[in-house]
Amino acid sequence: MRYHGREVDVEGRMRLVMESTLTARDRVGVQDFVLLEKYNSEAAFIENLRRRFGENLVYTYIGSVLVSVNPYKELEMYSKQQMERYRGVSFYEISPHIYALADNTYRAMRTERKDQCIMISGESGAGKTEASKKILLYFAVTCPINEHMATLGDCLLQSNPVLEAFGNAKTFRNDNSSRFGKYMDVQFDFRGAPVGGHILNYLLEKSRVVHQNQGERNFHIFYQLLEGGDDDLLTTLALERNPQSYNYLVKGNCPRLSSVSDKKNWKVVMKALSVVGFTEEEVQKLLDIIASVLHLGNIQFGEGEEGETYITTETQMTNLAKLLGVDVSALGEALTHKKLTAKGEEMISALNFEQAMSTRDALAKAVYRRTFNWLVEKINQSLALKEEIYHSGKGCTVIGLLDIYGFEVLQHNSFEQFCINYCNEKLQQLFIELTLRSEQEEYETEGIAWETVQYFDNKIICDLIEEKHKGIISILDEECLRPGETCDVSLLEKLEDTLGGHPHFVTHKLANGKTRRIMSREEFRLLHYAGEVNYNVDGFLDKNNDLLNRNLKEVMCQSDNQILSHCFRRKEVADHRRPEMAATHFKNSLMKLMEILKSKEPSYVRCIKPNDAKQPGRFDEVLVRHQVKYLGLMENLRVRRAGFAYRRRFEAFLQRYKPLCPETWPNWHGGLADGVSTLVNHLGYNAEEYKLGRSKIFIRFPKTLFRTEDALEAKRPEIALTLQTSWRGYRERAKFQRIRRAVITIQSAWRGMKARRRAKRRRQAAELIRKLIKGFIYRHEEYCPENEYFLDHVRCSFLKNLRKNLPKSVLDRNWPTPPPSLVETSEHLQRLHRTNMVTKYCRRVQPEWKKQMMQKVIASEIFKDQKDSYPQGVGRLFLDSRLEREQINLKVVQTLGNDKVQYGVSVVKYDRRGFKPRARQLLLTNTFAVLIDRTKIKQRVDYAALRGISVSSLSDGMFVLHMPNEDNKQKGDVVLHCNHVIELVTKLAMMASKVNCVNISPGSIRFLLARGKEGIIDFVRGPELKVSKGKRGHLLVIAPQTNVT
Ligand SMILES: Nc1ncnc2c1ncn2[C@@H]1O[C@H](COP(=O)(O)OP(=O)(O)O)[C@@H](O)[C@H]1O
Ligand SMILES: [Mg+2]
Repeated sequence: MRYHGREVDVEGRMRLVMESTLTARDRVGVQDFVLLEKYNSEAAFIENLRRRFGENLVYTYIGSVLVSVNPYKELEMYSKQQMERYRGVSFYEISPHIYALADNTYRAMRTERKDQCIMISGESGAGKTEASKKILLYFAVTCPINEHMATLGDCLLQSNPVLEAFGNAKTFRNDNSSRFGKYMDVQFDFRGAPVGGHILNYLLEKSRVVHQNQGERNFHIFYQLLEGGDDDLLTTLALERNPQSYNYLVKGNCPRLSSVSDKKNWKVVMKALSVVGFTEEEVQKLLDIIASVLHLGNIQFGEGEEGETYITTETQMTNLAKLLGVDVSALGEALTHKKLTAKGEEMISALNFEQAMSTRDALAKAVYRRTFNWLVEKINQSLALKEEIYHSGKGCTVIGLLDIYGFEVLQHNSFEQFCINYCNEKLQQLFIELTLRSEQEEYETEGIAWETVQYFDNKIICDLIEEKHKGIISILDEECLRPGETCDVSLLEKLEDTLGGHPHFVTHKLANGKTRRIMSREEFRLLHYAGEVNYNVDGFLDKNNDLLNRNLKEVMCQSDNQILSHCFRRKEVADHRRPEMAATHFKNSLMKLMEILKSKEPSYVRCIKPNDAKQPGRFDEVLVRHQVKYLGLMENLRVRRAGFAYRRRFEAFLQRYKPLCPETWPNWHGGLADGVSTLVNHLGYNAEEYKLGRSKIFIRFPKTLFRTEDALEAKRPEIALTLQTSWRGYRERAKFQRIRRAVITIQSAWRGMKARRRAKRRRQAAELIRKLIKGFIYRHEEYCPENEYFLDHVRCSFLKNLRKNLPKSVLDRNWPTPPPSLVETSEHLQRLHRTNMVTKYCRRVQPEWKKQMMQKVIASEIFKDQKDSYPQGVGRLFLDSRLEREQINLKVVQTLGNDKVQYGVSVVKYDRRGFKPRARQLLLTNTFAVLIDRTKIKQRVDYAALRGISVSSLSDGMFVLHMPNEDNKQKGDVVLHCNHVIELVTKLAMMASKVNCVNISPGSIRFLLARGKEGIIDFVRGPELKVSKGKRGHLLVIAPQTNVT
């Protein structure tokens, strides 16, 4: 396999590629110093820090140690979403963060059920307290909540502002510098919910109460009270609002801070006090004490003639005594006199001016320190486990948070710096011990030969300081206790005597020429693991003695301020044994702390301050190098890198890099160790590059890992493609399967329904058939259950059939044959239907048509079955007239006058004698008919006089109008022929009301001639119409045969 990796830049420029960054946001430098190729190079180390800091990546790991650079600005990386992001995620999977450390610690506590501690160190202003607050907040937000302890989270969080108000101050380095060391335990129940807490505090810098360096301030609470307290409160406390009025607040010449609002914080603190559980009375007493310290600072002394001192500020004294709750004169006495016990006798001696001043200051410091201790105690009471079940300690695990001052080197280093740096030596020792121990344990469990790690063990320095009888602290104590004149210089001499020759101890006298030049005579130098520090012995004895005059203590324990009477116990006064010296006390409490820390699994946060100006974006390399050195970070790295740069559990390693080897991709089915060894063989690792433990692979050089990473990076698109295609395939397949399942479901449901329907229909059909057959069998019985369906069906189908086949016309006589049971009904229906049809028909008939019909009815009455030409004649339309208006001569019309012509037709008249045919018009009026020969009316026939009308039964058009015969003047009957004989005769008969007088003769018609004589017309059937004279003077009419159907 070929690698396309970039080479490691020799000049400390970090590679852009490293394992954990691949998934993380940041690709600047290395996220873990362990992966730094030149791990011995401080320059490379600092360059990595600088580059990351430039990109606001303030966190970097050294293995499991978190290095944090103070950004001095709000970063958007502490939100709740971010907390969620880090929750339950493996330490190395995501960019370094304080939350990752917190989460990891929390999970280790839960899964291994082992107490944990997080040690935060760094110099003042490096961000220790902020880090501890972030960790606490992370727990408060992400841990489950125990319903009984819902307020505990608040208490834990709110204890901070209280402690900060009383224990923090603005210093040269940090506007909110913690002036005490803090170790805080958070207790969790078996479900991982926080249920209690406990705080241990170390070495409050009480000298600050009475003195501050230029530009620094006293503890915040004094300024907060003066700024934020309302007028009433200040009056009660006899205070003025101006900090300049108080000697203890003016030393540093810095009453206000731009970055901190005392007024706002006052409110925060007051609220926090109540959340944490301070009663109003307690708060009042607390403020009395704070005010009393201010007043104490303003107490002034005068010097009498005999060197005795007296108090010059009476009002201050009264206020002070009132606030402290003590007797004013007793207090005044105690501030100016000292009680000595010599040879069992008590003696009072007056203090000189300086002594009185320092007694005053000592009281202020003692009061403040003890009050601070009381405060911590009080907070502990509210944080304490309340539930009985937890008291046993069973089921309860602890995460400790140590926020302690880092290594401190000032221009002028005194007792405090000595203690602080001693503390750091101890912590470094613990670190080495624990790291090496865990390293060694890991090698052992993994079955890898232990290789000696080259590192500096600072035990020698710890011993130098703390060893019994021989250590600096012992000598210091001894010197304090030694009777006779003791002074700081004699201490130095003693130290020189005892420790001279120790490789880590130098004084002016012991030093070589070069060192001597830069050391003053009052100094001794310790070569700490982090560097050299010169301590000035001035004040060492006093500070270590830390004595408060007995008579002052006596006064204080009479106080009616409960807090003070709690802080100054009578027992203490009664106890004549010497109390523990400050250094010894500190040493002992450190020992205890070490025990506590050793019993827990440690994690480390190392804080670094990027510049002294508290400015964002500025990276002062000199300053950082200094801190990297003092924090022992290079040591850290060396120890961590002593053997192998990188180690990971087999499964994690295989999981990550398996795409790089065909045998392990996509899945390795054999044992993990075999898988890893197949993989590394394929990758071509040399034997010295790696070792396989029992469950982990150890890679010696970062470059090996980087090479592998680069290969993975190059492989990534391919993997992505594979993943993409298989994911798409999977998704589509799943979709297809889903659709298919749905289709099948729908199909089967539909088929089922169809089948059920069919079965139902079949069942119904069978039932029906059965019923019909049964009904058929019983059809002749009475209507009974057996045949009811059949009969109903027959009826129903008859009616249905009838409805479809009703006769359409009146003439249609067809009618379906009804079943027996419906005969009567059927008849009714038939009648009804006919009536209905007739009615409808009649309604439809127009007047014209009615007239026509009436004429036809008459025609039928007259001719039906009587005359051959009837069927033909009746079939034709009867016209209103066969003559057009203009065919009738105008003269005729005029002659007729009022008698309107109703009907006119051309006829042939046969003379009575000789039967000569003559063309005439026959006109009918309402009362008579006339025969017209062109313009002349030839004959008028009154209807009233008309005797009858005769026609033959054949198809001819002959007809005879029978005229009255009694009148001889008449010319006789009129013989006429008309082509429309049926029509004409019908009309005439109707008009003349002679319907009954139409006579149809079959063979011949007799008619009258003039004067009573008779003529005869004979009718025979022949081929065609012919009218001719026949035998015996008869008229012979041959009528054609008509096809009567
Ligand atoms: N993570 C951080 N983000 C933003 N500002 C910070 C952070 N850590 C520290 N600071 C700033 O630095 C100041 C000093 O931090 P602090 O924790 O008080 O230092 P230390 O306790 O180490 O003396 C804080 O008041 C704050 O302004
Ligand atoms: Mg702090």
